[in-house]
Amino acid sequence: MCGIVGYVGTRDGVPIVLEGLQRLEYRGYDSAGIAVVGGGKGGLKLHKAKGRIRDLQSSLPKRLKGAPTIGHTRWATHGAPNDVNAHPHVDFSGRFAIVHNGIIENAPQIKERLAAEGIETTSETDTELVAHLIGLAAREHDDPMAAVRAALRRVEGAYGLAIVDAEHPDRVIVARLGSPIVLGLGDREMYVASDVGAIVRHTKQVVHLEDGEIAQLEPDGFTTQTLDARPVQKVSELVDLDAADYDLGGYEHFLRKEIGEQPEAVERCISGRIDERFSTVKLGGLNLEPHELRAIKRVHILGCGSAYYSGEVGAHLIESLARIPATAEAASEYRYRNPVIDPNGLYIAVSQSGETADTLAAVEELTRKGARVLGVINQVGSAIARSNNGGIYIHAGPEVSVASSKSFTSTCIAFAMLAVHLGRIRDLSPADGDRVITALRELPAKIAAILEQEDQIEEAAGWLAQFENAMFIGRVRGYPIAREGAQKIKEVAYLHAEAYQAAELKHGPLALICPEMPVVAVVADDELAEKQRSTLHEIKARQGPILAIAHETLPTELAERTIVVPRTEPELDPILMNIPLQLLAYHAARALGRDIDKPRNLAKSVTVE
Ligand code: F6R
Repeated sequence: MCGIVGYVGTRDGVPIVLEGLQRLEYRGYDSAGIAVVGGGKGGLKLHKAKGRIRDLQSSLPKRLKGAPTIGHTRWATHGAPNDVNAHPHVDFSGRFAIVHNGIIENAPQIKERLAAEGIETTSETDTELVAHLIGLAAREHDDPMAAVRAALRRVEGAYGLAIVDAEHPDRVIVARLGSPIVLGLGDREMYVASDVGAIVRHTKQVVHLEDGEIAQLEPDGFTTQTLDARPVQKVSELVDLDAADYDLGGYEHFLRKEIGEQPEAVERCISGRIDERFSTVKLGGLNLEPHELRAIKRVHILGCGSAYYSGEVGAHLIESLARIPATAEAASEYRYRNPVIDPNGLYIAVSQSGETADTLAAVEELTRKGARVLGVINQVGSAIARSNNGGIYIHAGPEVSVASSKSFTSTCIAFAMLAVHLGRIRDLSPADGDRVITALRELPAKIAAILEQEDQIEEAAGWLAQFENAMFIGRVRGYPIAREGAQKIKEVAYLHAEAYQAAELKHGPLALICPEMPVVAVVADDELAEKQRSTLHEIKARQGPILAIAHETLPTELAERTIVVPRTEPELDPILMNIPLQLLAYHAARALGRDIDKPRNLAKSVTVE
């Protein structure tokens, strides 16, 4: 979703901010803008454009140079994506320019107050209102930090903000409440961003602002305080990220690059966590003693989209290996049904970004009601990671493509490890613990073997791309994979796809089966293989074309095309069976000429409801 980048120092900030904004393109946006302080009163220069950053760049006036500089990519919420609504927004006095991520909930009240002061708004955004509030507060406060603090005390909602002040051309002011802001420390220069990926090329020494904090950045350093002016001492940290993680590195698309990174991502997720002596897994971040883990009577997993489907894979793993009842649910629905908190339950929030507003709100609702919540998260230090009681980082590395791939797989791996851990302090035998651990260790090589079948999968994707609809089917532990496969092909190839539990076909959707309705079937050779084959016969009898993702034992005549997946332990089959579905979606999207890394209407981190 929206992105913020800022710079203060002696260099021209415009190219730095534009390059940073480009690094945030993956989050999804529909307009962009930049503001520079040229020095002295009235020295604000602004440029905004609907569309891509390259549109902003190509229309950039030559005079737009200097620092401090702030820039923004906007994903429209309040008001259409156009040049007027694009950020930065300037206050009525023309002194402050601001960029904002988040939502201002008391916008109508602020608007009334501004109207009472005779201040008219020009855009449809809630951000412009904050700019005017700061302008108003500056009438009473000489110090711009004090003005920003006073204005923000009147604001309800969520924000990550960066502000420049034409009267103080030596600083950028930033503030955070519910939307990330990270400061980057350079040599006599400072950076700010909503995502460290935007500035990691310049510095790896960073400071994360906490909610309710506000900071003033000058070339030589920064000061931080709370909204009520209490000073806060911040300690910088070195981020373990490589600028190359945010580059295509020779690939045509980030999605393909990230699908290909899965063997190493899985290795990283497992690394240092296997405890051979006790045939189990060590998960230091759970912050729960064995007796507390033994007392858990039920596991409730929450997430959105692909994170939710990986939670469904996790629920099956926990139920089968630890024998604890486990379910997954969409976090976006959960928070609105006034859930009854299970006193003996363990709640787990799944999120790649750690920023998804629906998941965060579910976690906050749970914590407020006294539930114990763990996170399975990729983004270290993210809002969701910080708001729960502990958890597992999946260490998938930055995921730039909007569609998740490696984070899905690594989340499933994290759940497999959690299931072994919970199982081994219950009744999972050492032999079964070893069986799963050995299989987990072998997964990277098996994923690499599937990636080698890319030509065959690409051919199948070209075939699938000719249809307008598709059905994805699976059973029990294969069903979440069918859901994820259907979701991936919808979002990147824009091909309509529905996922069904295979046995449910005959209860209705079988009516749709015909030569124009291809079926992608996830068919592991497990205890349900025979039943799955019967379903394939039923589809064939109605001339439904079948693409099977299967083990080598599936009779070839049962499907038009079969992608054979290596065997692993049955509990882990879904993890491997999902890999061809990722490549299938990628190549179908490529065949159809889609904007693969930035699918229409979608954003990487959905930080609004
Ligand atoms: C699909 C996809 C989304 C995300 C969902 C949750 O490919 O990426 O469905 O899984 O928006 O995002 P996170 O995991 O960041 O909470």
